[in-house]
Amino acid sequence: MITVIGNLKGGTGKSTVTFNLAVWLALNDYCVKVFDLDPQATLSDVGDIRKEDEYEPIISISNSLDDLDLSKQSKEDEILIDIGTADTQSMKKAIALTNRIIVPVPPSQADIWSTQRFIKMVVDICGKDNMPQMLGFVNRADTHKGVRETGEAEDALKILPYIDLIGTRLYQRTTYRRSFSEGLAVFELEPKGKAAAEVNKFASMIYPA
Ligand SMILES: Nc1ncnc2c1ncn2[C@@H]1O[C@H](COP(=O)(O)OP(=O)(O)OP(=O)(O)O)[C@@H](O)[C@H]1O
Ligand SMILES: [Mg+2]
Repeated sequence: MITVIGNLKGGTGKSTVTFNLAVWLALNDYCVKVFDLDPQATLSDVGDIRKEDEYEPIISISNSLDDLDLSKQSKEDEILIDIGTADTQSMKKAIALTNRIIVPVPPSQADIWSTQRFIKMVVDICGKDNMPQMLGFVNRADTHKGVRETGEAEDALKILPYIDLIGTRLYQRTTYRRSFSEGLAVFELEPKGKAAAEVNKFASMIYPA
């Protein structure tokens, strides 16, 4: 299965989500291959730190879809592609071949607008009758209950065409930043933390047992 993590806007959490999912999959005995198509190469950097510090499991990260030989993939292989936003050619190529797209959306109107544009771009690439499954969710949800933007963003996602809302959120937590900079997934840095619980739930919903 090929899963792209994408959105048009920068900083929505694509690399963070890709990395945490990759480690989760590897720990759950999937054979995971990660593609970092972003010239910023954030994922490759975190992969390098992980390698230097010799953390297991090893996450292998490739920077070019040329390394993806679909005829050599087995059913057990899970391919995650962080498409970034800068390399439009690679982005389009990945969208054209993927089975599904996970779309992190921070809770703001600007992010809903860019998600709308992203959906339109996917329709233009794949055609209305050949759409990959698109799964949206709110990343960086506000932890204060009084703030209404998260619920509003979810309501907006529910009515957008071609995208389904994953019924879970990832909240704004420093653990995401701290763990990433150390080459660790949130559940490796703080196994009992809130971020670990929400990423475990999120990953199990995307990859049900
Ligand atoms: N749930 C979260 N809570 C707190 N910080 C987060 C969360 N998700 C992402 N971040 C932080 O937000 C910043 C952007 O995240 P990330 O690099 O994953 O986004 P991106 O979509 O890959 O960005 P780009 O488009 O630049 O590649 C990073 O500093 C990251 O640590
Ligand atoms: Mg990124």
